[in-house]
Amino acid sequence: MSYKFLITGANKGIGYALTCEVLNKGYEVIALCRETSNVTNLDKLKSAYKDNLEIFKSDVTDEDKLKDISTNINKIDVIICNAGIMGAKGGMLDKQNTPSTILNVLMTNVAGPFFTIRAFLEKLKTSEKPKIAIISSHMGSQQHGSSDAYFYRASKAAVNNLMVTFSSELKNYKIPVASFHPGWVRTDMGGSYASLSPEESAKALIKLILDLNMKDSGNFFNYNGSNLHL
Ligand SMILES: NC(=O)c1ccc[n+]([C@@H]2O[C@H](COP(=O)([O-])OP(=O)(O)OC[C@H]3O[C@@H](n4cnc5c(N)ncnc54)[C@H](OP(=O)(O)O)[C@@H]3O)[C@@H](O)[C@H]2O)c1
Repeated sequence: MSYKFLITGANKGIGYALTCEVLNKGYEVIALCRETSNVTNLDKLKSAYKDNLEIFKSDVTDEDKLKDISTNINKIDVIICNAGIMGAKGGMLDKQNTPSTILNVLMTNVAGPFFTIRAFLEKLKTSEKPKIAIISSHMGSQQHGSSDAYFYRASKAAVNNLMVTFSSELKNYKIPVASFHPGWVRTDMGGSYASLSPEESAKALIKLILDLNMKDSGNFFNYNGSNLHL
């Protein structure tokens, strides 16, 4: 069986590792990244994988651009909403808790997946095995008590909530929707002390995402397959 994936934030970190894992499996990827993204690594992959990899440029907050890209695509089997940012990492007095940073975190981590799914949904409906995966974080769980990263946590809680609503609206189309914690991963966001390599996280995530079916829809999973509290 062949699959065509659409992956946002595909130029680095977990998104790039997901792209490599899917291509290594012999499947196709539509890689989305920003106009300003460093795409050196993706360009190298393009010369190795040729027709199996298409690269498009859009910010996930720009729905018009996402819709434009969608008109150039025939079919998608799997959407992975991966692009995300941290914003202020500290407590309530963190100086980065400004209106513009807060807006950016909520637009990228919450509205971004919403716009991505809405822009490409019609292409997903033509698939025989459609799936939607949102890369969230256990920091968004109401059970993950801490006292930092207020709006990152709020954004991941919100995107988990969107996931549940999408799963309910898309039930009639038999499109399963779930969110996933990728583990603590060594990326620009996760830092160099994180426990997992991007490759380890991506391998585990792609296995779970390929197995995703309607009975899993509306759930939040850890990268090891266990259920997480919303
Ligand atoms: N690393 C971890 O330990 C960890 C743990 C839990 C959850 N996560 C989640 O995993 C996902 C990937 O994180 P990562 O660790 O790979 O982070 P990363 O290395 O910082 O990569 C983030 C990716 O998102 C893209 N991006 C950010 N804002 C965007 C926008 N507005 N439009 C389009 N693309 C945008 C970035 O593009 P540019 O290169 O252009 O900036 C980059 O490709 C995020 O959703 C994150 O919240 C990560």
